[in-house]
Amino acid sequence: MKRFVIAGTDTGVGKTIFSAALAQALDAYYWKPVQSGLDGETDSQTVARLSGLSPARVLPEKWRLNTPVSPHYSAKIDGVEIDPERLALPECDRPLVIETAGGVMTPLTLRVPTIDMLARWRIPVILVARTSLGTINHSLLSIEALRRRNIPLLGVAFVGEEHENTQATIGTMGGAHILGRLPFVALLTRETLRAAFNASFRAAEFAQCAEQ
Ligand SMILES: Nc1ncnc2c1ncn2[C@@H]1O[C@H](COP(=O)(O)OP(=O)(O)O)[C@@H](O)[C@H]1O
Ligand SMILES: [Mg+2]
Repeated sequence: MKRFVIAGTDTGVGKTIFSAALAQALDAYYWKPVQSGLDGETDSQTVARLSGLSPARVLPEKWRLNTPVSPHYSAKIDGVEIDPERLALPECDRPLVIETAGGVMTPLTLRVPTIDMLARWRIPVILVARTSLGTINHSLLSIEALRRRNIPLLGVAFVGEEHENTQATIGTMGGAHILGRLPFVALLTRETLRAAFNASFRAAEFAQCAEQ
């Protein structure tokens, strides 16, 4: 079954909203292995609300950490240590959308950045990037880090207002496929998110991609 890693250039770039849209489009499972911060709505709860997936399709987090800081530190505050080796991929009978915490270098422990786990998994990555100023640098650094470790990059999914030159520059300089752009949706609901995703992305493109 197809699996996708939703990684970001940063935290707060739109990984969760994009994951909800993709999971809905593919009628997939969603998994957030490491959740930092449990006050308010968690990413899994946001995805459940905005994708309409049944509760069984939102897989339980492996680590649920209380404080909304970097996972390695959040774990320390809770008195636990994340063991990335124990992050075994769930077996699914439908596609699986996996959302990482933060950006690709976000530490799971002081020795293990998220990207080490992605290198072990070798699952195609979708890099979610802002369109606003500063994104070229963040995006190209993230792409370079993925490439250096031979992690397959399916492409870049932008979130935000259209900045054509910025988006094209990332595609050209990063040598990356641009999957589309999810615009800001004023009132996010299952329906408005689905419409915004369908207007820019082709679900078939994700469904066809082969895992390496
Ligand atoms: N397409 C969008 N339209 C409207 N709001 C969005 C969109 N994408 C992200 N947001 C908002 O931006 C914030 C960060 O998005 P989120 O998906 O949680 O980021 P991440 O998972 O990368 O930390 C949230 O408040 C979310 O609702
Ligand atoms: Mg998120």
